Amino acid sequence: MITAQKLAQTIFFLWIGSLSAFAQTAWTETAPGVWKLSVGKPEAYNLLTAAGVQPNTVALAALPKTDFPLPKEDISVKVVDGKTYLRFPLERGEQLYGFGLNFQTVHQRGRILNLHMDHYGNRDNGRTHSPTPFYVSSNGYGVFVNSARYLTVYAGSAARLDSKNAPKVQDRNTDKDWSANPYSDAVEVLVPAEGVEIYVFGGPKPMEAVRRFNLFNGGGCLPPRWGLGFTQRVHRLYTADSVRKEAAEFEARKYPLDFIGLEPGWQSKSYPCTFEWDKTRFPDPAGFVKEMLSKNVRINLWTNPYVSPDASIFPQIKPFSGSHTVWVGAVPDLTIPQAQKIYWQQFDKDHVGIGVSGYKIDEVDGNDSWLWPDVATFPSGISAEQMRQTYGLLVQKQSTDLYRNRNSRTYGLVRASNAGGSSFPYVIYNDNYSHQDFITGVINSGFAGVLWTPEVRASKTGEEWLRRFQSVCFSPMAMINAWADGTKPWSFPDVAEQVKAVAQLRMQMMPYWYTEFAKYHFEGTPPFRALNLEDGFIENVEKQTTVADLGENPYQQAVTKEIKDQYMAGEYLLVAPMFTGQSSRKVILPKGKWYDFYTGKYAGNGEVITITPGLDRIPVFVKDGGIVPMTPPRLHAPKAGEKVDLEIRHYGEKPAQYRLYDDDGETYNYEKGQFSWRLIQVERQKNGALKGRMSAAEKGKPDTVGKVTWRFMTN
Ligand code: GAL
Repeated sequence: MITAQKLAQTIFFLWIGSLSAFAQTAWTETAPGVWKLSVGKPEAYNLLTAAGVQPNTVALAALPKTDFPLPKEDISVKVVDGKTYLRFPLERGEQLYGFGLNFQTVHQRGRILNLHMDHYGNRDNGRTHSPTPFYVSSNGYGVFVNSARYLTVYAGSAARLDSKNAPKVQDRNTDKDWSANPYSDAVEVLVPAEGVEIYVFGGPKPMEAVRRFNLFNGGGCLPPRWGLGFTQRVHRLYTADSVRKEAAEFEARKYPLDFIGLEPGWQSKSYPCTFEWDKTRFPDPAGFVKEMLSKNVRINLWTNPYVSPDASIFPQIKPFSGSHTVWVGAVPDLTIPQAQKIYWQQFDKDHVGIGVSGYKIDEVDGNDSWLWPDVATFPSGISAEQMRQTYGLLVQKQSTDLYRNRNSRTYGLVRASNAGGSSFPYVIYNDNYSHQDFITGVINSGFAGVLWTPEVRASKTGEEWLRRFQSVCFSPMAMINAWADGTKPWSFPDVAEQVKAVAQLRMQMMPYWYTEFAKYHFEGTPPFRALNLEDGFIENVEKQTTVADLGENPYQQAVTKEIKDQYMAGEYLLVAPMFTGQSSRKVILPKGKWYDFYTGKYAGNGEVITITPGLDRIPVFVKDGGIVPMTPPRLHAPKAGEKVDLEIRHYGEKPAQYRLYDDDGETYNYEKGQFSWRLIQVERQKNGALKGRMSAAEKGKPDTVGKVTWRFMTN
């Protein structure tokens, strides 16, 4: 006799069977090289709806054609007991990158992660500032799970009884090869919801999968030129006068400065916040901001989003707020249009409208004891969990829109982001302070579709100050955040000149940085990224690895060496930061010739070199045929339309080409075609000498290039 329970079970298994069959056929190519599958009943609110961005389909179509990169029959999707189970196949020798902004690991295969928005707690366990549910495989594809839930990921850590590639059973009693972590042939993800959308991004190389992911999210952000200059944050109780003095001191000492960040005390109350100026410290905010702008220094404002009962918007926002508070402030439900209107009007009126250039949006990540709990409810019905995973996206999107509405770009800081956020002009930071972890963060940001700054805060010695400073000048935001202890760039006299030199170098390299960000926007290439995305890197690493290093875990056999302390900055530069106490270090140079950035001298080819660079410089290497456009040293970024002379540097022996990007550097007119790409070419003449030329700007398109000189660095 069939019991009701048996019948239910049979129906359930039939349903699951049909879902797997469905999985093999129902993938649709939603954008070129991007395939989507809807599993079960996907939730209406997800990472992409929170981010609210559109794919750049034109740029996606320009990438190489590619087939679906995985065997569809090996992908399994099931909805069981209100949860969605996903499984994607893994080959032996495949390595995985991504799963959010990790700080201590680059290789993710074998790891178990709970992707959960949080302040990073010094362990790569999935709790981080951008728990992006996206991974990239060394086999050249990417997978994205579009869910705003806390996801559990088994990134090749679990072995199934019915596996086609089951690991060998070994006997611990007698077999010295027995492993506690047997081989796993799948990435498995548990989604605590009755369905989800999943996306697969084709390659054929890992870099193309990353590009497709970024372009699918609207392309990377294009900061204003000034955003790539230098920034300093000042003490929370600074007054307008102390800010004026600080800016004047930078100018007098000839340290570059493009924007100053005001910490909490610009507001009448903070934690929770009023978003209103403190009139004792800033009696005339509009006059102050205008005056600073006239000195080429913009103002950035710290805030957290939580509304003080003393804020003028409190009575209006209260009905649109969550059930629980953060530091007794209301948490606006920023998914509700009316709440957005009430909230951002205040920002528009008191800040953006008077010329404030951007924000540092704090405390949107965690931690658990400060943020709203998972039992909180929100008037929109969006759960506390989903709100936590996406609040960083909401504040980035909505604050960016304030600037977009005024046709003015912004560039700021935020402590939480997620998939969908690539196009928002924000850089992530946190309160940890390991220089090494900060560099691994730079590396992993490129897999997570976000930007990360290894900000400089306090330092014990001049050496530490300089080493950190050097790294931050080769990152998405050159920032000192030493407001709490008051360290200035010149505070350590023993390294004050070196600090100035590297800050000036940052400014000199602005045409290069700006062009590399344009590629992030238009082509999806992360400006700062892992060596693992470079051609010629993996082969090189294998060559370096002896069998004895491999251990017995078979997945390690692909890419055995995890590189956590060197990264790519733009198309041509390999940066290998030095840490305090180090006088020498090893650098892995991918295949192809590499040259020293400062001297142009040959450095190596597909090998591990040991360098002893001295304190003055951060080691940087340039690819053969590398072109780096630079300007004369300057204290502030050029203004819209300002012509700037260029020194175009060429490295190595190869003839070369580079496309230099140009636009007004401040507005969104580039979205209406107001930009130009100038072709720079270096060729070898009959007499063997190198010669460079650059194409003219198209008629009617931006042209900010002044006099051009050429410098062939390698003789
Ligand atoms: C922290 C933030 C710091 C600083 C501080 C101000 O949470 O991460 O960078 O802005 O708040 O109170």
